[in-house]
Amino acid sequence: MDKIWLSSPHMGGGERKYVNEAFDTNWVAPLGPNVTGFENDLSSYIKSNETQNYYTAALTSGTAALHLALVMLGVTPNDVVLVQSFTFCGTTNPVVYIGAKIAFVDSERDTWNMDPVALKEAIETLVGQGYGIPRKKEPKGNKGYIRAIMPVHLYGMPAKMDELEAISKESGIPIVEDAAEALGSSYNGKMCGTFGVMSALSFNGNKIITTSGGGALVSSNNDYVEKARFLSTQARDNAPHYQHSQIGYNYRMSNIVAGIGRGQMEVLNDRVAQRRANNQRYRAFFADVEGVELQTEPNSGFYSNFWLTSIIIDPSKTGGIDREFVRLEMEKENIECRPLWKPMHLQPVFEGSEFFGSGVCVELFEKGLCLPSGSNLREDEFERIFEVLNRIFKK
Ligand SMILES: Cc1ncc(COP(=O)(O)O)c(C=O)c1O
Repeated sequence: MDKIWLSSPHMGGGERKYVNEAFDTNWVAPLGPNVTGFENDLSSYIKSNETQNYYTAALTSGTAALHLALVMLGVTPNDVVLVQSFTFCGTTNPVVYIGAKIAFVDSERDTWNMDPVALKEAIETLVGQGYGIPRKKEPKGNKGYIRAIMPVHLYGMPAKMDELEAISKESGIPIVEDAAEALGSSYNGKMCGTFGVMSALSFNGNKIITTSGGGALVSSNNDYVEKARFLSTQARDNAPHYQHSQIGYNYRMSNIVAGIGRGQMEVLNDRVAQRRANNQRYRAFFADVEGVELQTEPNSGFYSNFWLTSIIIDPSKTGGIDREFVRLEMEKENIECRPLWKPMHLQPVFEGSEFFGSGVCVELFEKGLCLPSGSNLREDEFERIFEVLNRIFKK
């Protein structure tokens, strides 16, 4: 029995043309027409129907994009960054690369993303501890500033950006948006990836479109994007020899990889439609199953790409069936399912970090499961998946 993956790469067919072009013209380098073309495709996709323009720097990963965003905001080891705890380590690790402190923020129940109430509490507490706010409040003692707020759109579901943006505006702390999982999602008609002063996208192998590995930094401020291109190519000053006035990074996307991205952009809208159709299928199945709840758009302002369809299983209502039972039953049939992200404040590597909230993300982790959600799932694969689900939930 072939393995059914949670989310596997889905090529559209057009990718080879761009990759071959790169070989034929010998643009086998971290620059070239595909890099520029991919950046332009992303910028116009993200812009959607807005009047505001967006700019994009193609990079080696989403993690690299977040790292450069924090570098450009001037985060120092004395500073603290507010990060959604319920996420993948790609959100948190860039803060650690800089040596700054992380204060973890809980999720709210509707979207599973950063809770505005817990965020407010976190800011008040950190200011009380002596942390400053850039251009608003000086720090005390040896403390630095609260430099950024990092919300995530988990599994493609937009966070409550209106409320988070209002807190950002009021406090003066900028948002760095982790839209790694949310290309194609939107909130009140505005695309995910356009909310932060800078945002990150990921094209890792399991994402809605992939370049095998890659990411992008997006901003409406072209200065940031140009600076990201400079920093991602080792911060070379304008000189005939190699001259460096600051520390750079080797984070630029290659022209081969960007060729895959250009091909994938041609099918992005189809991929969103396919993932949303998968979600509808699961939703129809679970509609009459007591104790199983799907991650759901709270109202029509939220539009998720449903990168992964995720469920919460309450064993007190399912006769004892829990998420681990479902995962293992699926595994027996060679079907991959995964628990939701383990909150970062519970990770051994972040032991002792500050966490603000009541632990909603802990409950979501304990009860939650991601179901196979690839846009390339075949009918016979869906049959196998639903056979197991039918057996478990006795339909
Ligand atoms: C929420 C989130 N943030 C950040 C990343 C990091 O992206 P990348 O793997 O491209 O570094 C990922 C995905 O991998 C992610 O899911």
